[in-house]
Amino acid sequence: MTVASIAAPHFDLTDRAAYQAWRDRRLTAYPRSIDELIVEVADPLHLTVTEREALIARCKRANMAIYASGCRAASDADIPRHVGEQLGLRTLDVNYLADDDGITPLAATDSGTRSGYIPYTNRALRWHTDGYYNPPERRIRAMILHCVQRAEEGGENRLLDHELAYIALRDSDPRHIAALMQPDVMTIPARSEEGEIARGDQTGPVFSVTEDGRLHMRYTARTRSIAWKDEPAVHAATQALLRILDTDPHILRARLEPDMGIVCNNVLHDRSAFTDSSSHRRLVLRARYYEAVRPPRGGPVSLLPPLPA
Ligand SMILES: [Fe+2]
Repeated sequence: MTVASIAAPHFDLTDRAAYQAWRDRRLTAYPRSIDELIVEVADPLHLTVTEREALIARCKRANMAIYASGCRAASDADIPRHVGEQLGLRTLDVNYLADDDGITPLAATDSGTRSGYIPYTNRALRWHTDGYYNPPERRIRAMILHCVQRAEEGGENRLLDHELAYIALRDSDPRHIAALMQPDVMTIPARSEEGEIARGDQTGPVFSVTEDGRLHMRYTARTRSIAWKDEPAVHAATQALLRILDTDPHILRARLEPDMGIVCNNVLHDRSAFTDSSSHRRLVLRARYYEAVRPPRGGPVSLLPPLPA
């Protein structure tokens, strides 16, 4: 028995009773609409205890929450970082295309290195979790998407708690889960930049259980620059997952307005294509973290120290 299966017996495919109990709790808690995830906050830089606890409670229910504020008191780039810190998210993943501070501005751009990557265009992004190409030591457990400006049209996110995707897949056939937990099931080929290897091949499972008993999902629905293990069980599992991501009734939709943000434990999400105008040029700031949103160990949320202004 592994450390993970002791911490989370419900993820053990042989423990049906533990799974059923956990499954029922997750489905009962899950929000019926996106509105249940929204927390109005007066000032995202200085959340009140009530606001912070409300965000964390929603993350416990659905691994995601949305904050909404009418306040733009500071530099926008400070907002996701400060919101993250107040929710226990402290270690930013500084990725290849992030600004130096680890906050990545996502906007459609026509030139430069970023323009070669779909997130930096106005095209649709398929279902994925963030950092699926990261090595295990840089596993993205949480992320924030903070909206500075919306597009004139489009740019909507669909969201699905990855635990709900796991449940739908396991309910349809537990063998799909076994197939996607194989350590060599999904490989993202190495990326080259100007003839140099910028990142090596990344091979790993789709679903894994971390040592603290949390489900982690590493996934992209993209069809290029990805190599799935070539076996019928994997093919069946990925097809079943695609069907779930097309039809699952728990899929939520959010179109962020300025000064709203999604904070989540790296749930499945996509983005629709969008059209900018001179007055509405979409800009979303993204922060990725190695920690998950959770109450701090050893005390209630309200004991978090206040952040400096
Ligand atoms: Fe993403």
